[in-house]
Amino acid sequence: MSNTGWNLNALVYDLFTGKVDEQLYRDVIAALGDLDGIKLDEFGCGTGNLTSKFPNTAKVRAIDYSPLAIKKAKQKTNENVVFFLMDFYQEQPTEYQPDVIVACRSMFHSDLSKSLEILSNHLGDQGVAVIAHPSKNWREYITPKVNGRRKFDLIQFVKSIGRVANHFNFPYSLFSTEKFEKIGKQYFDEVKITSAGYNTHYLVVLKKEPILNK
Ligand SMILES: C[S@@+](CC[C@H](N)C(=O)[O-])C[C@H]1O[C@@H](n2cnc3c(N)ncnc32)[C@H](O)[C@@H]1O
Repeated sequence: MSNTGWNLNALVYDLFTGKVDEQLYRDVIAALGDLDGIKLDEFGCGTGNLTSKFPNTAKVRAIDYSPLAIKKAKQKTNENVVFFLMDFYQEQPTEYQPDVIVACRSMFHSDLSKSLEILSNHLGDQGVAVIAHPSKNWREYITPKVNGRRKFDLIQFVKSIGRVANHFNFPYSLFSTEKFEKIGKQYFDEVKITSAGYNTHYLVVLKKEPILNK
């Protein structure tokens, strides 16, 4: 899969993050729960905005296929975070299996089954995977229809223009909650879906219980 679009996107990504993004990061952190001592893998860490919010006591592997994004992310994080420049659809870090995986708006492959299968295999027999995925088309972000809280949002509009340019270079698939639920249950024991980032994203929590506890 080509990383050209995302790699260029990394140059301007932080200029266009705003309150929706900050709320989304808060929601994702809340969904992840206590990360103290946890082995956490982040798929698609980007420029490290979420990565920098993990506690220093978590053992983090942050994966991205944009070298420019990783360069920026390194500046925002500490030694507990190790970076992997790789396409997570092709390969994943191998030394150990994580307790938790988080993929914050990074699994855009059109085949959701492929994305969830990769998360499931990488997690192994137990653990949690949390996906934040856009629930709205980017065009809707700028209208009050999205959450009823905002009027036309100029910053979000400019940000969306940035997105359009980038959409030429990578797939950006949206999925219904029903689809997350149905495919999620094929690979995980429990699927819980809530909304996040002022209703602009789904927060999909996928759990596998250890066999002994079943
Ligand atoms: C929209 S950004 C999200 C960044 C960050 N998680 C956030 O929410 O701010 C998506 C990131 O996922 C990365 N990404 C997308 N597909 C990937 C893949 N197949 N392998 C590795 N990284 C990928 C992109 O390079 C980009 O940095």
